[in-house]
Amino acid sequence: MEMPFDPWSPGFVADPYPAYAALRAGGRAHWFAPTRQYLVPHHADVSALLRDRRLGRTYLHRFTHEEFGRTPPPAAHEPFHVLNGHGLLDLEGPDHTRIRRLVAKAFTPRTVERLEPVVHRIAAELVDGLVADGGGDLLTRVAEPLPVAVIAEMLGIPASDRPLLRPWSAAICGMFELNPDEETARRAVAASVEFSAYLRELIARRRGEPGDDLVSALIAAHDEGDRLTGQEMVSTCVLLLNAGHEATVNTTVNGWWTLFRHPEQLAALRAGEVPLSTAVEELLRHDTPLQMFERWVLDDIEIGGVTVERGSEVALLFGSANRDPARFDDPDRLDLARADNPHVGFGAGVHYCLGAPLARLELAASFGALLERAPGLRPVREPRWRPGYVIRGLEELLVTP
Ligand code: HEM
Repeated sequence: MEMPFDPWSPGFVADPYPAYAALRAGGRAHWFAPTRQYLVPHHADVSALLRDRRLGRTYLHRFTHEEFGRTPPPAAHEPFHVLNGHGLLDLEGPDHTRIRRLVAKAFTPRTVERLEPVVHRIAAELVDGLVADGGGDLLTRVAEPLPVAVIAEMLGIPASDRPLLRPWSAAICGMFELNPDEETARRAVAASVEFSAYLRELIARRRGEPGDDLVSALIAAHDEGDRLTGQEMVSTCVLLLNAGHEATVNTTVNGWWTLFRHPEQLAALRAGEVPLSTAVEELLRHDTPLQMFERWVLDDIEIGGVTVERGSEVALLFGSANRDPARFDDPDRLDLARADNPHVGFGAGVHYCLGAPLARLELAASFGALLERAPGLRPVREPRWRPGYVIRGLEELLVTP
């Protein structure tokens, strides 16, 4: 089979779904030489491997780089790896459990429910601003400021500092794309140094003057029982700030572009014929904002007759899993009323998205406000996709109310 997977090609990024169909038809695990990974395209496998403890987001809780047959990253990249490696998402085992338990308290459905009025108010204000101006870029006017404001508020980042967050996050997230180049690494390292320094200072200030925010809560946990190191605290804050908006931004913008291309479905949604929460899940499935997540293989496994040895890396293709006909009826069809929808957009297993209830609230608020307050919303022109494949989103989405 010719390898249809080409994450660096604009055509593939714009529409990876035909390539995924070819991969699924061709087998359950495909060696991809350019990134030295096995690509896993089926829903059943992605879902099972996310829950399989023989795989992990890191191997460093069990092996050194050398024991695992890997070369350590270059010393110049260390600030990025130190920052990334001590956040919740890139820890495994007892460290992951300990930090997740602490942070999870801030993201229970009940805590998130309390944010509801604020989130709806911000969404309404942003949409009203866009309408008053006669339209603009949905990304910068609504999709981005809403989740940034919410997560920054939760962490207690002063409003005047919020413009710093997006560029730092974007520079760091560049490293999550496949085979990042040296320039991407240089920018990620610079952002890691600045972002860490910023948070250390914020933490020092909050220690002297605690507030009703998550940073103060983490400091209290750290100071009382030494349950969180200083580095873990900084890394987890950065993770929350980045994970707390990147995918929500893209789900909003990609989701509206999908709706615009399905006018009958959009009309049904506007008419209230489909529950908004069901529609949001379908948009997450149909055009998954985070297309792929990787796992290290910590003990040999077998996928569809292929032995994948310890030390290998697998790339779980979420975007493909969510279009797998073995799991979803007519998977390429957008069906906003789809009832049976076990998509893997938020992952599964121990790293299942901690922010899923918050993301769902934000998406319901922004889609709801746009449907209600901008009932004639339409695109101005066809948008372009940004080059990234893993975190996949449009460059902009110009709309008129
Ligand atoms: C539509 C929006 C979102 C999507 C699609 C999404 C998706 C995901 C996925 C797939 C994972 C698991 C990655 C893996 O298994 O390797 C994850 C983890 C995570 N997400 Fe989200 N996410 C979204 C919004 C949010 C928000 C708003 C927050 C808020 C803080 C958040 C915080 C996190 C955290 C902290 C983790 C790491 C959990 C852990 O390792 O235990 N996410 N997310």
